[in-house]
Amino acid sequence: MHIGVPTETSPGEHRVAATPETVKKLIAQGHKVSFQAGAGLGANIPDAEYVSVGAEVVVGAGELYSHVDVLLKVRGPSIEEARQIRAETVVVGLLDPYSKDHLEAFSTQRFTSFGLELLPRITRAQTMDVLSSQANIAGYKAVLLAADAYPRFFPMLMTAAGTIRAARTLILGAGVAGLQAIATAKRLGSIVEAFDVRPAVKEQVESLGGVFVSVADDEAENAETAGGYAKEMSEAYKKKQAELIHDRATRADIVICTALIPNKPAPLLLPEATVWAMKPGSVIVDLAVQSGGNCAVSEFNQVVVKDGITVIGYPNLPSLVAAEASSLYARNLFNFLGVLLDSETGNVKINREDEIIAATLVSMGGEVFHPNYKAEGV
Ligand code: NAI
Repeated sequence: MHIGVPTETSPGEHRVAATPETVKKLIAQGHKVSFQAGAGLGANIPDAEYVSVGAEVVVGAGELYSHVDVLLKVRGPSIEEARQIRAETVVVGLLDPYSKDHLEAFSTQRFTSFGLELLPRITRAQTMDVLSSQANIAGYKAVLLAADAYPRFFPMLMTAAGTIRAARTLILGAGVAGLQAIATAKRLGSIVEAFDVRPAVKEQVESLGGVFVSVADDEAENAETAGGYAKEMSEAYKKKQAELIHDRATRADIVICTALIPNKPAPLLLPEATVWAMKPGSVIVDLAVQSGGNCAVSEFNQVVVKDGITVIGYPNLPSLVAAEASSLYARNLFNFLGVLLDSETGNVKINREDEIIAATLVSMGGEVFHPNYKAEGV
């Protein structure tokens, strides 16, 4: 197959979908790889590194869109880019598959696309799990951003001039990002508490040295779906939860928000009353900002500083750690290609009986398979 790697065009996106490591492996399997000049620069990968493993460099994305069989992307093609993609091409990436306008362009162009964010959370798909690999990075970077904005120390220090107390960090949502945030805040010397609706995470929080706080409630026992995700909770639960979080947040110096519910707006966990009751100097990082935010004050892609409280709402933290994020993402994508490309012929083989293929297939031959798109009756 002829595989293409364009430069990402989404604002603030520094990642790249293939690294010299994965390109080398693809070429060893007999594929041809072309990349757009400069595609890896945001992730500190000079063109020469791709060339040294046998990839071909092209100037401009147009040539890739009009020639390649498989297009490797981080973010979904813009509508303008989608209009350049041939019907014979297979596109793989984080395709923003909930955007109707994009999907309509996919359908008009009739190309095949796979959205990696739709991968099932099954053991066989773990090596392809882009949500985990990128959430892990986001959790780490969120704590570093908080530490940078926080005008005090994280660790306790005993000095000749007196003792400095350790910062207190509250993590809301202890999934992949939240667990990494716990580990990072602990390493920096903070005291860490974490809250999640799913009681199953208690042990994981404690194994990282965090204290698990929860709402003692029968409903909490069933807060997890069969897929391991959180359910939306009742109003009665939310009231108890709000009281608990208000109490913990006003004692904390740092709050890292990571709570998400698949296909729903993020739960609002820090209303304004809680934010403005926090101590001056406190920092909130809202990783859920792209889904509406866990914090009422956070603003998309902005840092809000008011009354001594800093609220960071950057939507794409993995892109701020672009070299590592690209390296992990590229490996995830390479592993996905192991399912998509026939091991004997090397050709694309779409086996819709395969759970991984069936779940991630977004469009093919003008048809759009994404369940949300269908639900809208389009
Ligand atoms: P996510 O990004 O959908 O949500 C983040 C966290 O927010 C979750 O822990 C969720 O329980 C929590 N949350 C939702 N509503 C909340 C609320 N109102 N208050 C507080 N917390 C709330 O989840 P993520 O990080 O993608 O992981 C979800 C699950 O999938 C986890 O159990 C994880 O261990 C599991 N997983 C399984 C994998 C596999 O088997 N291949 C791979 C990766 C994750």
